Amino acid sequence: MKILVTGGTGYIGSHTVVELQAKGFEVIIVDNLSNSTIDVLDNIAKISGKKPLFEKFDLTDPVITSAFFKLHSDISAVIHFAAFKAVGESVENPLKYYHNNLLSLVNILQGMVENNIRDIVFSSSCTVYGQPEQLPAREDTPVQKAVSPYGNTKQICEEIITDTSLTANIRGVLLRYFNPIGAHETAFIGELPLGVPNCLMPYITQTAIGKRPFLRVWGDDYETPDGTAIRDYIHVVDLAKAHVVAVERLTGGICRQNVEIFNLGTGNGLSVLEVIKSFERTSGVKLNYEIKERRAGDIVKVWADTEFANRELGWKAEKSLDEMTESAWKWELALANRK
Ligand code: UD1
Repeated sequence: MKILVTGGTGYIGSHTVVELQAKGFEVIIVDNLSNSTIDVLDNIAKISGKKPLFEKFDLTDPVITSAFFKLHSDISAVIHFAAFKAVGESVENPLKYYHNNLLSLVNILQGMVENNIRDIVFSSSCTVYGQPEQLPAREDTPVQKAVSPYGNTKQICEEIITDTSLTANIRGVLLRYFNPIGAHETAFIGELPLGVPNCLMPYITQTAIGKRPFLRVWGDDYETPDGTAIRDYIHVVDLAKAHVVAVERLTGGICRQNVEIFNLGTGNGLSVLEVIKSFERTSGVKLNYEIKERRAGDIVKVWADTEFANRELGWKAEKSLDEMTESAWKWELALANRK
């Protein structure tokens, strides 16, 4: 089966391509390389022994996207990762986010409908829950008004797929990611943040390797055991594997509804200090960090109820926090050796 992976040269996309190939799927990637590089294709091939098919174009272009789908009407399912994801930038430039994240999905769905391609897996985010009143967050926990245009695009995209599935022959699995970190064990692929990272893990590894002077820990006065904020960190390879299961579920026709939603997390809430301690333990590097004021817009704590995903998908995150921090560090070291 041929699977279209949009954003397949990106962080989660590239790990998913590797897992799809391991299960015998043929992969075609579409990416505009706005936040990734072409050499990711060779690095995927180093792991899997097979270079995926690749087309570079912008999915916000309806004409090119429509022509692509006509040419590749033998695609069995789509996994749609391609999107902008920087929360702060989305506040500064909302139209950039609405234009890119919404139009690309609309064009993809149009191409799918025109060519009788039914199945789509969509990258959503736990950001749709905001700060839930009850933890862990379940798939039926009420979605809250998004605090950023980025978060809003995730909510709207979920609605676009749901609405489309009501009248068109479209089925979707919406995967709500918690906090993916880590890298492939080979260190051939991993996260490549452009500029200064916002997210915790790349900031930790860049500090440890000397690219940043110190990590700022955003707040230690939260109502949590050690005062720092809590997230559900999940190894990117575990996350990638869930996409393969979702594709098999869709193409195998075993979905219970036209659109299904699953949390992808471990179910364990971990504090910023716990992640730092794990990193120090697995890397042997003492991390330079300072406690700062809370970061605007941050929620206090969130972690996933994984029961539904575990039961329905038959999937469970398996890798430990130490495996996450160790692989992230190995990746940072590999990047340093490439230069
Ligand atoms: C962020 C986004 C969220 C997005 C998610 C995954 C915000 C407000 N939210 O979530 O919408 O879905 O990434 O891409 O940006 N931290 C530090 N120092 C740092 C960086 C982070 O202390 O330099 C802390 C944060 O305060 C937070 C935790 O580490 O408590 C995780 O932060 P981060 O990796 O940015 O992810 P989220 O804030 O969960």
